[in-house]
Amino acid sequence: MIVQIPDLLSVVQLRDARSRLLAAPWVDGLATAGHQGARVKHNRQLAEASPVAVELGDMVLVALERNPLFISAALPALVYPPMFNRYEGGESFGNHVDNALRLMPGRAQRMRTDLSATLFLTDPEDYDGGELLIDDTYGAHSIKLPAGHLVLYPSTSLHRVEPVTRGSRLACFFWIQSMVRDVGQRALLLDLDTSIQRLAQTEADEGARLQLTGCYHNLLRMWSQP
Ligand code: NI
Repeated sequence: MIVQIPDLLSVVQLRDARSRLLAAPWVDGLATAGHQGARVKHNRQLAEASPVAVELGDMVLVALERNPLFISAALPALVYPPMFNRYEGGESFGNHVDNALRLMPGRAQRMRTDLSATLFLTDPEDYDGGELLIDDTYGAHSIKLPAGHLVLYPSTSLHRVEPVTRGSRLACFFWIQSMVRDVGQRALLLDLDTSIQRLAQTEADEGARLQLTGCYHNLLRMWSQP
């Protein structure tokens, strides 16, 4: 299940984020690569503890908490503090699967990565290449979204970032442990919630809508681990 979330950040937030990121100190992306990723990862990122990363990461977390589609699609239990990366001059990240477990920075707590997220920060016309290619059971999907848009995909997917051959690609990335671990169950709950929200805009039978809403909550109760 690949879900696109439009306009997570405003134009003003994006402009501010880009100017602060371009002026920030960048380190080799290998700093956080797993054993398998290290051989194919060629990019730069902000040090996790750098003030710019922490402040912009907090801005992203606030935007996520206020976004009903993100909440409905991810059903988040834990969100890894957002990180920032930069690709230019032919940099790329070859095929890999994200690490299953991550230590939450600053906390003695591990999280399981159920969903991976990329928030695009540069407009697509400002760089060539840099597509995020995600393999799932239906084939490969090429994702290159407008600045401010987010893509959520299962962390079990093989994925890569194509070489950036012109301009600079800035993005924010992070992982989510979901209250609902199974991707099929999450997909079903998202479908159900989306249709309930649409029905709520209509004059459709109120008793039937209430019953469907009950089904949603009772399935969530059955499948979730807070
Ligand atoms: Ni990855």
